[in-house]
Amino acid sequence: MRVLLLLLVGMSQALAAQALAPQSTPPPKPAAIDKVGSAKATRGADSLDTHSYADPSSVLSTHIALDLRADFDQKSLEGSAVLSLHVLDPLAGSVALDTRDLEIMKTEVSSDGKHWQAVGHELAARDPILGSKLTVALRKGARFLRVAYRTSPGASGLQWLTPEQTAGKKLPFMFSQSQAINARSWVPCQDSPRIRITYSAVIHTSDNLRAVMSAVNDPKAKRTGTYHFAMPNPIPSYLMAIAIGDLDFQALGKRTGVYAEPSVLSKAAKELEDTEQMVAATEKLYGPYAWGRYDILMLPPSFPYGGMENPRLTFATPTILAGDKSLVSLIAHELAHSWSGNLVTNATWNDVWLNEGFTTYVERRIVEAVYGRRQAEMEAMLGRQTLQHLVDTLPRGDTALWFSMKGRDPDEDTSEIAYEKGALFLRTLEEAYGRKPFDAFLRSYFHRHAFQTVTTSNFLDYFHKYFSENFPKTKELVPIHEWIYSPGIPKGAAVPQSDAFTLVESKMKPWLAGIAAASSIEVKHWSTQEWQHFLQKLPEGLNLMQMKELDTAFHFTNVGNAEIAFLWLQLSIRHGYAPASERLQAYLLGIGRRKLILPLYSELGKTPVGKARALEIYRQARSGYHPITQNSIDQLLGMKP
Ligand code: BES
Ligand code: ZN
Repeated sequence: MRVLLLLLVGMSQALAAQALAPQSTPPPKPAAIDKVGSAKATRGADSLDTHSYADPSSVLSTHIALDLRADFDQKSLEGSAVLSLHVLDPLAGSVALDTRDLEIMKTEVSSDGKHWQAVGHELAARDPILGSKLTVALRKGARFLRVAYRTSPGASGLQWLTPEQTAGKKLPFMFSQSQAINARSWVPCQDSPRIRITYSAVIHTSDNLRAVMSAVNDPKAKRTGTYHFAMPNPIPSYLMAIAIGDLDFQALGKRTGVYAEPSVLSKAAKELEDTEQMVAATEKLYGPYAWGRYDILMLPPSFPYGGMENPRLTFATPTILAGDKSLVSLIAHELAHSWSGNLVTNATWNDVWLNEGFTTYVERRIVEAVYGRRQAEMEAMLGRQTLQHLVDTLPRGDTALWFSMKGRDPDEDTSEIAYEKGALFLRTLEEAYGRKPFDAFLRSYFHRHAFQTVTTSNFLDYFHKYFSENFPKTKELVPIHEWIYSPGIPKGAAVPQSDAFTLVESKMKPWLAGIAAASSIEVKHWSTQEWQHFLQKLPEGLNLMQMKELDTAFHFTNVGNAEIAFLWLQLSIRHGYAPASERLQAYLLGIGRRKLILPLYSELGKTPVGKARALEIYRQARSGYHPITQNSIDQLLGMKP
């Protein structure tokens, strides 16, 4: 049966195996995956995606053709999506798509893509996490489904900025953020990472704006108001992306460049000048870059994330523009996703560590290759400290690498455990098996699974197979199942070491002991990371005199670097340090990157006076934040049930 279907639809074997897998049963039990053979039994079970209504074993979409007009007055994208369908179940009378807050105007099917017949559809009640299931009736022979629709002004995956909210202040701006489950708020689709599609798009906007997408972009395209795109490689829906604004382009290298508003462009280009070198370094480690160009889109400060690995066009926050390239590991991270994530994709959000943990590991390898071991180790140490903090504070169950996200919102509950425990796990493997063999394994893993999705048990299968074939006599050197399925940090974890940080600590000591002035601490040539370490190593309960002394010596309140400012503001709230109060307000009003502002609102929320202040600032700031950030802060401050 499977063979027959394969012949019929001619799709990749891996995709078919996943698409046809049974769609029930709970997470894999460690016992079931002890041996390579028995792991196969769980392959289908753990590829169940509880965050999508799509049933790819019945009908599978393979391509989406968009034709959308951006209406900045209505804050809406309006037009149509044509989905190419493979009907795998001959008895399927309908197809289920994911949507969220879409207005569906019309649904039609076609067998040739030319002649269309209207068909019925049903939009189910809105689930607070999943959105609304759209069920469309299918006729016999239907191979294309056209949905005419319009997005809502509050679409969770789009932000519409007024001219005043941009750097140039003259023209509006809009951008998407599809990961994890927000693509459905601007494209009706099978919004599950285990389903890959190619896409094409025609975007209509006004002719003073430029549209870009996670697709083939033409940097030389004239501003005509109509833009054509194609993404020829199959990608999961969470990698569909669009932005429209007053965007210019500057080349960084042969196949790299940056898009930004004109007034930000040259600063961005300077900061990101090592991008081409990063691409070359990653190729040397893990094999050819599979996506053609690697460009970066510098977004306005309301972008809710640091970066987003949209293929061919990383989206980035301007808070990395520190002026000294000290925060460009974020680019290394998003670039790394071109292998771990975009090429080899987590099958479900339970497996997100396969994306983010691998990527954080690769990110540090890129940083090491381009900026040296000292820099990479400082970043690894900061990551290790973050991990320790999470393990100490999160519910135990949430500190395993694999854990069930069922009933939870992956846009709210994906923690840095996936990143930092994942990266530490891979580093531990690297040190146990040796760098060369481990690099060869990763190259082979990326190559073998290119343009496919993997579950955690697929990874385990491959790992065991690879090492038993290549190192038949070596027994398991790392407690792999414990790393993946148990909470906490297993014994024998790799230990990052940073002499630079040891030095920072020893330089702090005399001041902390009260025997030297802050101004006498030798801080010349400290990098952002050394400052971060310094601020994180300050003990609880400094007095206001000490805060003042630090501020006078190092001008923290007015520091331009967004990461250093973040740590200082957090300390200032904690210690009731009033001179930072105005900067705090300006910071929260000026930046929408969730990771930098949520902890500040949270810190404020710890006292009644602080909570009142948080609400007061948030009242002013909310409309400037992205819906994803709004949602998190609404929940934090108790503004939603
Ligand atoms: N893919 C993530 C962003 C993401 C993860 C969005 C999960 C939605 C759900 C991106 O690659 C990322 O990790 N960004 C980080 C930066 C990185 C340097 C740690 C961020 O935004 O802070
Ligand atoms: Zn990432």
